[in-house]
Amino acid sequence: MGTRRRRVSVIRSRSKPVKWDDLRMEFISKCTADTISNAAQALKDGHLVVFPTETVYGLGADATNEKAVSRIYSVKGRPSDHPLIVHISSINKLEDWATDIPDYAIKLAREFLPGPMTLILPRTDLAKNYITGGQNNVGLRVPAQRIALALLKKFEELGGQGVAAPSANRFGAVSPTTAEAVGEELGEYLDSADLVLDGGQSVVGIESTIIDCTGLVPTILRPGAITEEMLQQTIDEKAENSKVQSKVKAPGLLESHYAPKAKISLNTIAEPGEGFIALAKIKTPIGAIRLASPSSLEQYAKDLYMALRSADQQGLKKISALIPEGQGLATAIRDRLLRASNKRE
Ligand code: TXA
Ligand code: MG
Repeated sequence: MGTRRRRVSVIRSRSKPVKWDDLRMEFISKCTADTISNAAQALKDGHLVVFPTETVYGLGADATNEKAVSRIYSVKGRPSDHPLIVHISSINKLEDWATDIPDYAIKLAREFLPGPMTLILPRTDLAKNYITGGQNNVGLRVPAQRIALALLKKFEELGGQGVAAPSANRFGAVSPTTAEAVGEELGEYLDSADLVLDGGQSVVGIESTIIDCTGLVPTILRPGAITEEMLQQTIDEKAENSKVQSKVKAPGLLESHYAPKAKISLNTIAEPGEGFIALAKIKTPIGAIRLASPSSLEQYAKDLYMALRSADQQGLKKISALIPEGQGLATAIRDRLLRASNKRE
C-alpha cells in the first residue's frame, strides 16, 4: 500500500491489474461468502459497491439511503435528474417498489427475470425522488449473475431493500464489462471504503432491455438482449419501438452515449492505422487494427465495449465498425454503435 489516501478494495477472481498500481488499490483475490457478506454490509453502511452483472458492471448503493445514492451521482459525474435502476434479488420483491403492475409485466418478469431486462413500473413510496428523478415510476431489475444475486440476497438479509446501480462508468462513457474497466473509469473517484467485486467479463456485454410498463402495452425504451421478438412471443400485444418515446421517459437515453474517445464511423472501410470492428467472416482491411472479430451477434455484444476501450488504450483516433444487420440482438448492437458514433437510427 502506498501513501495516497484514496484506495479501493477490489475483490477479484481473475487476471492482472491494468495500470491500477498508481491508484494504490487493494486487491482481494476472490468473491467468497465472506467477502460478499462484507460487501453487503458495506452497502448497508452507506458505501458504494461495484458489482458484476450479466450485462455490465453496476455502481451500487443502498437505494433507500439518500446520501449513499447521491455519491453515485458524484462518482459518475451524472446529472441528478437521471433515474436509477433498483436491483432486487427476486421478482417476489417487485411489489415492495412497484404498484399497479400490469398482467403483461408479470408475464415478462416470470419469463425473463432474473435476466437482462429492466421493467419501468409505477412506484411505491419506497422509491423516492432521489431514485426516480422525480418521476412517478421506478426501474426494477433482477440480474442473472451469481455474485450479484448473492450480494442482493445478503443485503436483503441485513434488512436492505434494493440496490440502486447505474452502469459503473463516468457519465456518457462506455459501460465497463470487466473489473479492470471499472478501475479505469472510476478508480480515482471511489473512496477507500468502497468495494469493487470482480466477476470476470460480463456475459451479455450490453445494458439491459428497458421496458416501460406504465401503459397499456409494453414499450421498449432501450433495446437489449431480451429482444422485441422475445417479448412478443411472451405477450400478445406488440411492443412499440423506443424511437417514438420522449426523453422525458428516459432522460439518460441521450443522443451521444457509450462513447469512447476515438471517433467511430459506421460502415466505412477502415484506413491503415484505424481500429476495425466487424463479424469474424469479414476480413481486416490492410493496415487496419482489428479490435474484435465476433463470430456471432452474442459475441459481438459481449466484446463490443471491450473493443471500444481497447481502441482508447491503444490511442487510436478512429474506429470503423461494420454494424450487424437484422433483428433480435442486432437491434441493440446497432443502437449502441449509433449512439457511440453520435448518430441515431
Ligand atoms: O444492464 C443494466 O441495466 C445496467 C446494470 C448495472 O444493471 N444498468 C444500467 O443503468 O444500464 P444506467 O443508469 O446506466 O442506465 C439506465 C437507464 C438510464 O438511461 C435511465 O434514464 C433509465 O435507465 N431509467 C432508469 N429508471 C427509469 C425510469 N424510472 N423511467 C425511465 N427511465 C429510467
Ligand atoms: Mg449507463
